[in-house]
Amino acid sequence: MRTLISAEELKARVKELGREITRDYEGKEFTFLIVLKGSTLFGADLFREIKSNRVELDCIRLSSYKGMKSSGSVSMDQGEMTRFEGRNLLIVEDIVDTGTTLSFFLKELEKVHPESVKICSLFEKKDVNRGRVRVDYLGFDIRNEFIVGYGLDLDQKYRNLPDIEILEESDRND
Ligand code: IMP
Ligand code: MG
Repeated sequence: MRTLISAEELKARVKELGREITRDYEGKEFTFLIVLKGSTLFGADLFREIKSNRVELDCIRLSSYKGMKSSGSVSMDQGEMTRFEGRNLLIVEDIVDTGTTLSFFLKELEKVHPESVKICSLFEKKDVNRGRVRVDYLGFDIRNEFIVGYGLDLDQKYRNLPDIEILEESDRND
């Protein structure tokens, strides 16, 4: 494994994103929607950088990954989707890779007519996503490599690493 982004760099970028979001949503009521589980650490840090008394916190579980590849099908623990009707939603994701997960969710959301939907993602593999999903607030554009740490996993492991590490196929049995 080798470190791609240190905890310090993550912290600094999260602060900047928080400032941007705070400014853009000034005076507006909105829902900060954390996508479980990958975004839990990022989301918790970013949420505390949002200076607003009109923001609500919500979570949804979406998953599409098996090992180091997108499985192509997305599962969702939706709860009541109707709770998003008429809401200003800020979706908080860990990483947009192929865009499959969020494309699926955005389609589901359309059915319940939110007032507005924006996406904040800590990472995007722009070369893979190729504009399929538009990220409004992006932490870092990264190359097509598999990363773990700061909430991101390989088969549920490594989420606790404080830095972002690049995982090679050969690291799998460490
Ligand atoms: P997508 O549907 O291909 O855009 O993939 C999105 C989801 O796959 C993310 O929410 C992550 O959970 C997972 N994912 C994609 N790339 C990585 C990676 O490099 N490391 C860990 N998880 C990833
Ligand atoms: Mg994941």
